[in-house]
Amino acid sequence: MIILGINAYHGDAAAAVIRDGKLVAAVEEERFNRFKHCAGFPIESIKYCLMEAGVGIDEVDHIGISSDPSAHLHKKILFAATRAAKQATSAGARLTQHQTGATAVIEKPPNGKEPGGNGNGPGLFRQIKDRLGNAAKVRDLREELARQLQIEKGDIRAEFHNIEHHRAHLASAFFVSPFERAALLSIDGFGDFISTMWGTGEGNSITVLDQVEYPHSTGIVYTATTQFLGFPHYGDEGKVMGLAPYGKPRFIEEFRHIIRTEEGGQFRLNLDYFRHHAEGVEMSWDQGSPVIGRIFADEYARTFGPPRPAGSPLTDREQDIAASLQLRLEEVGFHVLNHLHEQTGLTDLGLAGGVAYNSVMNGKILLNTPFKRVFIQPAAGDSGTALGVCYQIHNGILHQARGEVMEGAYTGPAFSDEEIKKSLQESVVKFEEYTQREVTRRAAKDIADGLVVGWFQGRMEFGPRALGNRSIVVDPRRADMKDILNDRIKKREPFRPFAPSILEERVGDYFEQTHPAPTMLMVYQIKEEKRAEIPAVTHVDGSGRLQTVSRSVNDRYYQLISDFNDLTGVPVILNTSFNENEPIVCTPREAINCFQKTRMDVLYLGIFAIRR
Ligand SMILES: [Fe+2]
Repeated sequence: MIILGINAYHGDAAAAVIRDGKLVAAVEEERFNRFKHCAGFPIESIKYCLMEAGVGIDEVDHIGISSDPSAHLHKKILFAATRAAKQATSAGARLTQHQTGATAVIEKPPNGKEPGGNGNGPGLFRQIKDRLGNAAKVRDLREELARQLQIEKGDIRAEFHNIEHHRAHLASAFFVSPFERAALLSIDGFGDFISTMWGTGEGNSITVLDQVEYPHSTGIVYTATTQFLGFPHYGDEGKVMGLAPYGKPRFIEEFRHIIRTEEGGQFRLNLDYFRHHAEGVEMSWDQGSPVIGRIFADEYARTFGPPRPAGSPLTDREQDIAASLQLRLEEVGFHVLNHLHEQTGLTDLGLAGGVAYNSVMNGKILLNTPFKRVFIQPAAGDSGTALGVCYQIHNGILHQARGEVMEGAYTGPAFSDEEIKKSLQESVVKFEEYTQREVTRRAAKDIADGLVVGWFQGRMEFGPRALGNRSIVVDPRRADMKDILNDRIKKREPFRPFAPSILEERVGDYFEQTHPAPTMLMVYQIKEEKRAEIPAVTHVDGSGRLQTVSRSVNDRYYQLISDFNDLTGVPVILNTSFNENEPIVCTPREAINCFQKTRMDVLYLGIFAIRR
């Protein structure tokens, strides 16, 4: 039984494939087409997944997409109609909606101008039209797939499924977790008109207990504030999370006014601060990187002063706003989670959704809620819904037994030593060849000698973090390494921290918490007495976004850190993603190009190495 899952027409387009319940491949489209967070149709990912499974599209039994245009349709229509009617009245527009087949038609007024716009954006009509356009594409998945694969529609015999966005998130958080029973939370911006959904998983089924609907969303607050702070790009929220520890949460009351908690784990936005619900926000979900127009309303400036222009100096104000936002997100997150625990009595938690990339919040869950164990699969954000779709079909719809536990993130393309050698030869670079045992020893020595080391091994990671297969690794003991990395390769904002990879059994020696963090989605406090030992991975508040590395999950990476430990007595290396302001490299050729463009000292590819 082959099942193909797709996330399309949404940020981080991706595909995943499972065979008889076993995860064969999962990958993000950005790694192939090189557009960060690409939001179009993941045709290259689909082709790769089919290749990895060794099947043609005609052999796939089920195909699903993590969007269900008919989900909450009555709420969408009602919301759109209410808002549009309000605006149309003043603009003289006419709105008709034909609900048959989940199609709504929005007609422009006779003058052809779109009502509802304010001069800054395309207005609600355009927004609704765009959304419905995407909904139509989702419904025509078979046709789109046939067109992209250049085959006849009839050649695809698979049964098609629309899996609601948050149900796909929940499925990704449970069916590949080690838990037989667990509380589940999906929390993000929006998907299928919902921002937050929670429930329980047991065996091969998931029960939804409650949800938070449009326009209320923690993700929207974070994104709006990120924009206000002068970080306009899709996915910039992590920068604000990195900025927060520099500030003091002196605006916490303002943020409690912007997003308030309610009984039953619910929360509500003060809509005066936002544009998404009223004027519409320009969004582009084409084949390139997603673009989101301004979400914050003028009320932000009335409260905090003028927005920070991108690239201008950061002041205490920005740091304090970031600190307040982060604290408020944590308060609301724990409010939902504590309610979820009360409602279910469970102590194991599966977490997903874009907000589950907030590793600072994640790292505090065990300290602020009764949960004892947390599972977050590596692609917790929208790309992971492709994986969730596969398992929602396999377990939830077809009632197949569980079996797969996702321990690593290594589900992308791999390249054999022969293929790597060929790329090296084609690139006409001088290279060295080692034995398997030598390669980690040599690299460990290079790291200890202060070199910047590219580390390209095995299958590429799924999700945003490089976890030791597409990584740049350096010595965490050197305080100047952060500046060296930024200067030579990464060019990141100087306030952003770099992350440590640590041997799993040594976590307790360095961190105040020991719950495993194999996908680098937890931030813990580094023990006070250890901070000076690993300054390059210690953030300003003494925290570190760690990756716990075990031999069973990634043998070669474990060996590298172990060899570094033999040389230095420190079981930690600094791990940052293998890229230079672009999607993480996928192929040997891309790794070699990145090495040549930047000032990396040495690049290990499999058992080969090239040196500057
Ligand atoms: Fe999502």
